Amino acid sequence: MGSEKVSSSFVNETTLVLIKPGGVSRGLIGEVTRRVEARGLTISGMKLINAPRETVETHYAEHRERPFFKDVCDYLTSGPIVAMAVSGPNAIKAIRTMMGATNPIEATPGTVRGDLALTIDDNLTHSSDGEESAARELGLWFSEGMVK
Ligand code: PPS
Repeated sequence: MGSEKVSSSFVNETTLVLIKPGGVSRGLIGEVTRRVEARGLTISGMKLINAPRETVETHYAEHRERPFFKDVCDYLTSGPIVAMAVSGPNAIKAIRTMMGATNPIEATPGTVRGDLALTIDDNLTHSSDGEESAARELGLWFSEGMVK
């Protein structure tokens, strides 16, 4: 896990991707994982789970005081989700760009949200927004040794 500088042009990273309940119920696990692998990134950990409320609340802890906190926690616990560790060159930014803007209505066509989602309350995926959050989130969703 973490980052390993390989050359001046890229850094090998591992990031967390969640496919939210809407993505799983719409049968989009294959579509999302296909795009991740087709880009050349490696799925280095993956599990389908009913996320414990406590884990979801810890995941979104920085948003605890925001008006959408309860909604996002309700959504993430409303059905099964997929948690994935994704590794490769500049994986954190590569994945964020591939997923598109958080609000799907602003997401560019060609991105996961720009192609497959319409509203922020059902925006299909989560991905870590930086090195620090990737390390924290991978540690929250995967126990030691579960990520290849
Ligand atoms: S911030 O800090 O204001 O920029 O917040 P933002 O990045 O927009 O949102 C933080 C996460 O909350 C999710 N979100 C919502 N989920 C469900 N319903 C509503 N209304 C809602 N509003 C925001 C948003 O998707 C972000 O989660 P992730 O998992 O990172 O996409």
